[in-house]
Amino acid sequence: MITSFTATIRERVQRIETMPAIPAVFLPLLKLLGGSTEEARVDEVVRLISYDGSIAAQCLRMAGSPLFGLVQPPTSIKGAVITLGLRRVETILLTCCLGQAFPAKKWVLDPVVFWRHSLGCAMVCRKFSEKLTNTDREKAYMAGLLHDIGFMVNCLAFSKEFATAMALAFQEEIPLDEAERTTMGFTHCETGQALAEKWKMADDVIEVIAHHHAIERSQKAQPLVALVHLSDLLCRMRGLGYGYYERHKADLISDPAWAILLKDYHDLEGMDLARFTFELDEGVEEIHALVATVFGSAPART
Ligand SMILES: [Fe+2]
Ligand SMILES: [Fe+2]
Repeated sequence: MITSFTATIRERVQRIETMPAIPAVFLPLLKLLGGSTEEARVDEVVRLISYDGSIAAQCLRMAGSPLFGLVQPPTSIKGAVITLGLRRVETILLTCCLGQAFPAKKWVLDPVVFWRHSLGCAMVCRKFSEKLTNTDREKAYMAGLLHDIGFMVNCLAFSKEFATAMALAFQEEIPLDEAERTTMGFTHCETGQALAEKWKMADDVIEVIAHHHAIERSQKAQPLVALVHLSDLLCRMRGLGYGYYERHKADLISDPAWAILLKDYHDLEGMDLARFTFELDEGVEEIHALVATVFGSAPART
């Protein structure tokens, strides 16, 4: 039974004493991204960054990186926000928040690979939703960024079991969720859901975290889950996967998520998918540069 199984995982995650508390600025930040105008957000973001010295330092370091080619790097938080642009700063802020909650020292999954995939998926979700009428782009971005948060839980709380799953996925070149199910009996979707519930994230984001590999189980927010599912596949097809070669390459149009999305968004009918994936390449380069700057390294792309 799925319900009792999920309940067991939830109980295991709740019981883990090392489970991180929600970072102080995380929920205010999520709320901010979901509403306010851009002008109002700048001041609020500057205020949130100022709460935390290490995040502030990270933003200033980013703003001074060669990526932006400034002769005179900004010395204030507001200057950094203006230099980097609001969206970039919000992304850095969220990444730092989650990075603090999950120290990367013992990660089985390379944190650079993880963040490149998560940020890549967030970017694709936003660009995808720009092609559809009446979608909430920031919500799509957020859902993409957080969809695989269960991998962080696995690294922290189930590291041995997860290492076995990763080894199987690498060896057999199969999707990571399939390897998790085979070796652990559960996936990052269940552990991510348990954490998202504990952190009281929005219902539709929890839905994405829980069902992005099994859309048919999604009862609420199915179009958003389908959007993230397709964006996840696109990333894995375009060099922003989980750090290894996956044998099965998906065909987006024949994926059931495409049909689900098509029901609500007729814009998809005329969409030139080849052109869209080509447009993503520019964004992919930026993701590589951003993650390399934040983490100071750039491992092989897979
Ligand atoms: Fe996933
Ligand atoms: Fe993913």
